[in-house]
Amino acid sequence: MKKESSFGQILEERKENKKTIKKGKENWLYDYTSPNTIWAYEKTFQNIIDQPWDEFLKEQKERHGLTAAMDFMGGGSCFNDLQWLDKKLAVRLLDNGPNSLFQLPPQEKERLLEVDVIAGDVLSKNTWKEISLWVEKETQGRGFDLILSRPIGGLLHITFNIDTWYFLIENLWSLLDNDGGALYTQLPLPNYDEHEISPGSRAESLVSLVKKKKENIMNWVKLLETESSFGAVFSDNKELPHIHCDYAVLRLRKTIDSPPQLPKLI
Ligand SMILES: C[S@@+](CC[C@H](N)C(=O)[O-])C[C@H]1O[C@@H](n2cnc3c(N)ncnc32)[C@H](O)[C@@H]1O
Repeated sequence: MKKESSFGQILEERKENKKTIKKGKENWLYDYTSPNTIWAYEKTFQNIIDQPWDEFLKEQKERHGLTAAMDFMGGGSCFNDLQWLDKKLAVRLLDNGPNSLFQLPPQEKERLLEVDVIAGDVLSKNTWKEISLWVEKETQGRGFDLILSRPIGGLLHITFNIDTWYFLIENLWSLLDNDGGALYTQLPLPNYDEHEISPGSRAESLVSLVKKKKENIMNWVKLLETESSFGAVFSDNKELPHIHCDYAVLRLRKTIDSPPQLPKLI
């Protein structure tokens, strides 16, 4: 029986995640990034990409001398084809073990050795502490030029209420470079067909949450879009085919004019 309070739900989910970490095997949380790695991410974010990522990173490199990116809730194989990227971090529940990367050929797996992995639960404070330490060490505290967050089915494991999702996006915003850092993320606004949802599943819980909270999320997105200093662009991704594009997406870009915090999502 699920506890009602947000905190109770977080504790319950953390307990489950601890068990998964202990087992060392994720059942339905395989990374989907296929051999043409960055392609899959570009497909998800195609409606909101204003500039090819490599071109964007090249410009950031010219300005800052070094570029850093994070694959949040993913194994980092999306970085394989980004030649202007220097520092790479992947944050996922388990390390890039043999079960975690879906159908990657050996040479792609090899290139993953260049990616630092923080294995941990993003609902746990310790994981965020580790990410901050990495940012401090690898970017001298400057932050990420690019954060890609494409959890796909992973969203079902972190979005059991809107507070948890907001907690994550607020943290990601604070980790962006103040002078141009960009975040591309999926939102917990699914485009599933009714027949795809089995009764009692996590997908069903997300759909019922969205029924209650969609207006709040959309008002929050509109607020971001009207304030130019968030560099916000949204797409519901509705016209796109499934799996890579099952959810709405949002881009944010931080500049020296951006507020340090996002507006509250109530
Ligand atoms: C379906 S995979 C998507 C992976 C990758 N972003 C991609 O597009 O191929 C879900 C990802 O979410 C991660 N994940 C799920 N729950 C998590 C949690 N509580 N903390 C950290 N990572 C989590 C899994 O480890 C996995 O990498």
